[in-house]
Amino acid sequence: MDVDEIPSTSDSVAFVKGLKKPAVADVLRAAQARGLVAIQPRCGVGGHEQMRALLLALEEGAHPDILSLTIDSYTRLNQFDTAQSSLRNAPEELNGYPLVAHGWRRGRDLNQVVSVPLEVRHGSPRPRRLFETAIASGITSFEGGGISYNLPYCKDVPLADSLDAYAEIDAKCGELAQAGVVVDRELFGSLTGVLVPPSVSIAISILEAVMAAHGGVACISIAYPQSGNMVQDVAALRAIRSLATRYLPSSVDVYPVLHEFMGVFPRSRARAEQLIFAGALTARLGGAAKVVTKTIREGYSIPDASANIHGMRLARVANAPFVDVIRLDDAALAEEQYWIEREVNEIVEPLLGATDLPLAIASAFRRGSLDIPFSASRHARSTVVPCRDRAGAVRYLDAGDLPFSEDVRRRNRRLIEDRWLTSDDHERMRLLMADINYFLEPPGQQDFDFVPTVVESATQGTDPEETYAA
Ligand code: 5AD
Repeated sequence: MDVDEIPSTSDSVAFVKGLKKPAVADVLRAAQARGLVAIQPRCGVGGHEQMRALLLALEEGAHPDILSLTIDSYTRLNQFDTAQSSLRNAPEELNGYPLVAHGWRRGRDLNQVVSVPLEVRHGSPRPRRLFETAIASGITSFEGGGISYNLPYCKDVPLADSLDAYAEIDAKCGELAQAGVVVDRELFGSLTGVLVPPSVSIAISILEAVMAAHGGVACISIAYPQSGNMVQDVAALRAIRSLATRYLPSSVDVYPVLHEFMGVFPRSRARAEQLIFAGALTARLGGAAKVVTKTIREGYSIPDASANIHGMRLARVANAPFVDVIRLDDAALAEEQYWIEREVNEIVEPLLGATDLPLAIASAFRRGSLDIPFSASRHARSTVVPCRDRAGAVRYLDAGDLPFSEDVRRRNRRLIEDRWLTSDDHERMRLLMADINYFLEPPGQQDFDFVPTVVESATQGTDPEETYAA
């Protein structure tokens, strides 16, 4: 495929400065300073004009603080030619915006039509071309990490490859920061999105953050997936802040970010709205700088513009002043935060002294002393098995070969044994499925009052409250 030559770094730096809008890092700093949560949707459609219209509709309908370019699967896999031919033949079939196929000039065009900064959200283990095109487009935030965008997504990409690709990206962000353009790097702690124990999520993000800081990255967002237990989630967001202070240089700005629930979503409108609002409230109470929102379409499909607008408006309610008076149980929070930090310390400390951290990480995944549940990859053992305790918090049913102390293992056992006393395999599988489907209404109780409407992605002028009137 012919692609435009990428412009020089100084040209891209001049373009960003000429945009006269804040960078993502500026938005995060401002939100954090006010104790509020920046709102961001996921969004991406194939055609350029459709993408332009979608961004405008979202901006007009919900005033997000940051907008996304969610990238299609072909581009994620570096299949730019296939992305290009889909774009020509059936752009509506692409599941995101193929930025590389469109090229950086169109990327710049998208950046110019909206007043808020953009982030590229993808899922690629080797995103060099995508990153180059994003930077040339003047995009000031780039998601992903060498662990978190490999193991959940790929069957057989060696960690050395993805870690190497992200090391280059981080180094490039370092150069850009020197040139006065701070590119935020958001680390994908959501991993597989299914029952991720907070300490697995945060430990992996801390390792990626240490590598990013080493490359000169000046702004890091550590994303954590809402588990649905508010005490655990608020404690995890607070733990991110405290662990960042412990492990990262003070010259780097680090922001906790909440991803609204990433697992199996409820299908009824009412339950979906509750989960979305609970997520935003969790983000606010936990001091997250940003929340990435979900929609009531989550149980069905990728959201259209009006569902996305509705999801963002709902999340923004959590920025209301009344939330200041809401207090969770301080003792329960402190205890949970203590144990999350302790677990993270036990996972990362044996690795942080390594002379070659990427090499030590790949070898730890081979041994199982680093691990993630339900990994797609042969390069992780996935002997860690999570579950929920009675309160819905995510615990370790089996901590596999994670280097945990006896204290940590004992506490996990104590918290779950009233639910998991059985050793019957069928019963254990039933319990695990119930935990995975924790928010899904039982058959017969999914109220289908929500009729999915087919709305063009560009729904300028449509009042989302009207489209989704019950
Ligand atoms: N537009 C909006 N949301 C998207 N997601 C994936 N692709 C898109 C897209 N093109 C969302 C899914 C899910 C999360 C993983 O990303 O709906 O919520």
